Amino acid sequence: MVIGSPVNHSLSPQLHNTAYEALSIDEQYIYVACEVAKPDLATYISGIRTMQHICSISCTIPHKESVMQYLDEIDPVAQKIGAVNTIIRTSQASSTHSYLKGYNTDWLGILAPLKKRVPLTDKKITIIGAGGAARAAIYGLLIEQASVTVVNRTLDKAKVLAQEFGCNTAALDHKAAFDSADIIINTTPAGMHPNEMISPIPKEYIHAGQLVFDIVYTPFNTMLLRDAHEQGADVIHGHEMLLQQAAAQLTLYTGKAAPLEAMERVLLQLVDSGGSTLSV
Ligand code: ATR
Repeated sequence: MVIGSPVNHSLSPQLHNTAYEALSIDEQYIYVACEVAKPDLATYISGIRTMQHICSISCTIPHKESVMQYLDEIDPVAQKIGAVNTIIRTSQASSTHSYLKGYNTDWLGILAPLKKRVPLTDKKITIIGAGGAARAAIYGLLIEQASVTVVNRTLDKAKVLAQEFGCNTAALDHKAAFDSADIIINTTPAGMHPNEMISPIPKEYIHAGQLVFDIVYTPFNTMLLRDAHEQGADVIHGHEMLLQQAAAQLTLYTGKAAPLEAMERVLLQLVDSGGSTLSV
């Protein structure tokens, strides 16, 4: 199940249930969305402890950080990123109650689509935003030995991240931070439905030869990606992050390799790509 608020528009149930069908495990597993308001989180998690048939939980906005305090163990990667999006029930002989362990797969969702396209070592990568998604991106990219610059509307927040992770920082309107980048990643909600006419950066900040990844997937072709395409840059659509983080979750849930083709097919229908990808 996925818990969050609001969660009614989540694409995860269809994505995971499609994967269960493709793997012929849909008689054992079913994935549902549960609306859990912020104040109810503690009660909900303690309820889940008694419901042994719930083997795993995805966790989305606004619970990714606050849920950590209610779990028995946090994977060191999730601890470093500071957010949990996946909870697995494990059996611990020493424990008298259900043992819940938190993981983060968002960083894999950002890393996998990039690694599929280019080697990341020594690449100059500018990340827009300083929230949880930015933290996941920075974590993964530093492992790949990329050179990371964080830019954010509120510069102080970017500075805190830069200090913690040991990367560079710049203001959002500092064009040079984008001119010199090989890859630009947007981790902010700027441009997300219903604000489709917004881009986090001016079009002139993007040029040919760059790769631009927007983790926003509604709309499919965001203003940032349309601008990037017009400037002659390559693009990665946001659904790829959703797909790859879900694939990593599915493996944690079931121990099986994710059926990526079947999952991407259903996802492209759900995000309404209309068949018009900007990928070149
Ligand atoms: P998440 O955890 O999903 O990454 P978050 O913690 O709410 O989300 O962080 C959202 C990020 O998007 C923040 O860096 C925010 O900038 P501020 O720190 O200045 O608030 C950024 N953001 C949100 N809306 C934005 C916009 N319209 N333009 C640019 N940045 C935006």
